[in-house]
Amino acid sequence: MSNEFAGKTAIISGAAGGIGFALAEALAKQGMNIVMGDIDNMALTESGGALREQGFDVLTCALDVTDYSQWEDIVASAKEKFGKVHMVVNNAGVGGSPGKVEDAEHETWRWVMDVNVMGVLYGAQACVPAIKEHGEGGWVLNVASMAGMMGMPYAGAYCASKAAVVSMTESWMAELKPFGIHTSVLCPAFVKTRIHESYRNRQQKYAVAAEKRIDKEKLKAGAQAATKAVESGIPATMLAERVVEALQSEQTYIYTHPNYRKVTSGRFKAIDSAFEDAEQSAVVGHLINDEIVTF
Ligand SMILES: NC(=O)c1ccc[n+]([C@@H]2O[C@H](COP(=O)([O-])OP(=O)(O)OC[C@H]3O[C@@H](n4cnc5c(N)ncnc54)[C@H](O)[C@@H]3O)[C@@H](O)[C@H]2O)c1
Repeated sequence: MSNEFAGKTAIISGAAGGIGFALAEALAKQGMNIVMGDIDNMALTESGGALREQGFDVLTCALDVTDYSQWEDIVASAKEKFGKVHMVVNNAGVGGSPGKVEDAEHETWRWVMDVNVMGVLYGAQACVPAIKEHGEGGWVLNVASMAGMMGMPYAGAYCASKAAVVSMTESWMAELKPFGIHTSVLCPAFVKTRIHESYRNRQQKYAVAAEKRIDKEKLKAGAQAATKAVESGIPATMLAERVVEALQSEQTYIYTHPNYRKVTSGRFKAIDSAFEDAEQSAVVGHLINDEIVTF
């Protein structure tokens, strides 16, 4: 098989199920060597087996993305088996639980931020040197969400974490380009997976003391709405095909739900038009012709 992916190696976090598994399968079909990492060992064994049954030579590794040393281990294992690393897919993510700002459980926010944000940083930090070292270039694909492009009531932790992933990706795009590393961010709306059951993989270190837990009844309506939305989502296999198509044409923002354009355009319009207020301001309006300072 001859294409830009064939014979190259991808490390995918959260690859035991959902979007991660679909991406692993789609990239394996493109001829990539696949290294699957996940915190859920049983699911990982099963999904690794499913790809091997299709004839793909995949490596499965225990990986909790919140533990940097496990990222170092997976990169070492990938290099030992396949020689080089070309792609990291920072896919592992958790939904947290929706709730009012005044009810926020600090441990839940830390869990969401550690998995969804620090996990992405650690993945890039561990894999980028391995991609740079062979000089052949590669890919960093970060899985954010439409939730990273807009705030949603009762979902502050998830939206903030995904907005961070969008921002981190935008920062790395220019930084990694000179090394031939294409950096992109995937922003899906709903996809039919088990994201609404993320608590199944919540580590003990983020447990909430019983007396601090939000009353489950308060969360019920939000949880039911989230389940309904996820179950109405597109199949993960469709998303994976879309990602392959987008990577082939080096797209940087990868959308899977074109019908959500009105969400981002409404938000960007509001952000942009707020500058008109600043331009009219008696205090700062005179700065309009000043230079833009960046570093
Ligand atoms: N499903 C959706 O509607 C949707 C929409 C937008 C973005 N996303 C994002 O897609 C990504 C994949 O989610 P999904 O929908 O496939 O959910 P999922 O729950 O079906 O799969 C997530 C996978 O990540 C693994 N995981 C969880 N915590 C981990 C950790 N600490 N370390 C390593 N692996 C861990 C799980 O075991 C699971 O295999 C997430 O980043 C999610 O935020 C999902």
